[in-house]
Amino acid sequence: MSTRTEILKVLADGDFHSGTAIGESLNITRAAVNKCVQALVARGLEIHRVSGQGYKLATPFTPLSRQRIERDIQTNDIRTLHILDEVDSTSRYLLSLAADNDVHGHVCLAECQTRGRGRRGRQWMTSPYSNVILSLGWTFPGGPGSLAGLSLVVGVALVQALADQGIEGIELKWPNDLLWQGRKLGGVLVDLQGEVNGPSLTILGIGINVRQQDGALEGVDQPWVDISRLTDNIPDRNVFIAAILNRLTPALEKFKHAGFEPFREDWTAHHAYHDQDVTLIQGNKALHGRVRGVDEHGALLLIDSDNNAHVFHSGEVSLRPH
Ligand code: BTN
Repeated sequence: MSTRTEILKVLADGDFHSGTAIGESLNITRAAVNKCVQALVARGLEIHRVSGQGYKLATPFTPLSRQRIERDIQTNDIRTLHILDEVDSTSRYLLSLAADNDVHGHVCLAECQTRGRGRRGRQWMTSPYSNVILSLGWTFPGGPGSLAGLSLVVGVALVQALADQGIEGIELKWPNDLLWQGRKLGGVLVDLQGEVNGPSLTILGIGINVRQQDGALEGVDQPWVDISRLTDNIPDRNVFIAAILNRLTPALEKFKHAGFEPFREDWTAHHAYHDQDVTLIQGNKALHGRVRGVDEHGALLLIDSDNNAHVFHSGEVSLRPH
């Protein structure tokens, strides 16, 4: 654990702690404490300093804890938890580990992600120490052709894990954005490696906004929301992460055997824009039409104004209400 994280753990309770007391408990000088606090502030954390009282976090937080996550995991399919203070991208971390290791069942979690990857080449921005930044390695016996609908299955599992935390009313925007009243709460990025006929290694990257600092997502070009803006009962990230894994791993096994079809009804029940008029943008083409749901492989069905049916398999499109 880095000294920065150790200091954060002391401050996690939201009380004042003097530089001297922190220094003594970690066996470092007061100046070293100050330097680390400055580094945390530079990462976007709001830490108040009051002379005579010391340092205090503007918002108390619960650090990621291996013990607490493992306590709640009810599946035998998770083999290793990699819990990192800081990483460029949890998905990239597992992808590079996969060069020499079997990462099936490996989970990478991070408190801070400096170059998070989003869909369609975008950056995924997230405030440190307060969000879900998770990647899971999972191997499937078939090739990429057998994985149609996988990202939608992940979306269904995430909606269930959110409901387990009492967070309802979440919708899925095809292929796998999590929305609350049209605002983005989270997203899924699927990385895929393997041969045409399989097996395939997937890295399922999941980002969920739990508590974003004001101003942290400046420049993000779509409306967003976080769990702290939806409820006062913000879930403990450790409990929430275990719930995600408990929902996700059986869903992935079921998908392996039965494909997307058994998830279609659940996905449709949460479908944002179902039977609504949308504009679908693919490359530099825009198509207006009405969304008719998804087929048994998770492909999006759209009917245009001349009643022609269009089927979209690729997630490389952008969908907006019309
Ligand atoms: C999207 O664009 O909606 C997908 C966002 C996925 C972000 C997550 S955060 C954990 C994992 N690591 C990454 O670099 N990206 C994914």
